[in-house]
Amino acid sequence: MQTEALPPDETGLSRAAAILSAGGLVAFPTETVYGLGADARSDFAVARIFDAKGRPRFNPLIVHVTDLATACKYAHFSETATALATRFWPGPLTLVLPLRDGCGLSPLVTAGLATVAIRVPAHPLARALLGRFNGPLAAPSANPSGKVSPTRAAHVATGLTGRIEAILDGGPSSVGLESTILGLAGEPTLLRPGGIATEALEAALGHPLSRYENAQKPNAPGQLASHYAPDAPIRLNVTQPETGETWVGFGPCKGAALTLSATANLIEAAANLFDTLRRADALAGPKGRIAFAPIPETGLGRAINDRLKRAAAPRD
Ligand code: TXA
Ligand code: MG
Repeated sequence: MQTEALPPDETGLSRAAAILSAGGLVAFPTETVYGLGADARSDFAVARIFDAKGRPRFNPLIVHVTDLATACKYAHFSETATALATRFWPGPLTLVLPLRDGCGLSPLVTAGLATVAIRVPAHPLARALLGRFNGPLAAPSANPSGKVSPTRAAHVATGLTGRIEAILDGGPSSVGLESTILGLAGEPTLLRPGGIATEALEAALGHPLSRYENAQKPNAPGQLASHYAPDAPIRLNVTQPETGETWVGFGPCKGAALTLSATANLIEAAANLFDTLRRADALAGPKGRIAFAPIPETGLGRAINDRLKRAAAPRD
């Protein structure tokens, strides 16, 4: 299959919407990472996502819609859910809510669960595409399963060329980390830290969040122990790199090959994370190793450390 490179204009959007309507796959930019989009109502289109990514079928997908009113067609919103959606959408927050019976979503999207993960993205091109397509888009991150998430069209091309119909190029993703996933089908539960800081959610909720931790039975692939993995092994919290290590700094780190943020800015570090992982992997080469400087465990630092831990985890 030829993968088309689509420009961020009317022509690109029309072509992308036409491909999606015909059951095809289009990678598109969101503010978090690039998503691999398919019509969330079509079993055929959604099955192709799993195939293109090599993703285990029991892992459900996030449904992307244009606004809260549309989201209400697919999920039951509690008062809390409505309040959080109003406060944080459009933006990097995914809510897991009770699925509305007969709402028309493919059961493959939810992996047969009685809940659905749903979000309203903020990226103007994602919003324009949702408007053109005029339907719900199932979209996981546009990378082969288990690999580093894409924050640029070129990252998507590296992983998925020949496996998908098109890539809509909208430049680098501004947030750089996947959405925060909050479970609201029962007690509010943080399922995945991400682009909205946990502190901001807790402030909006008015109480601390419990965190879902069960690596044996993850209900989000971002929770699998090894994920976001580059080829080179990774060591974390490194202040003194060893010979043979490509050192990635945060704040002042004399001799670092790369930096997530020279000024120790967590927002900048999040935006740089996945691209830097790829660069470090390329610099390290086939026998090399990567070392990361410590990142503080506050704000977006929690989500950055979460991704780094999984990137550094032992692999099978
Ligand atoms: O920022 C993002 O969330 C990006 C962009 C493209 O929107 N998408 C993304 O998708 O990160 P993905 O597939 O890589 O991660 C979606 C996560 C998975 O960890 C999945 O298990 C979880 O959402 N998820 C989906 N439906 C769920 C459900 N009903 N209950 C619990 N977790 C669910
Ligand atoms: Mg992913």
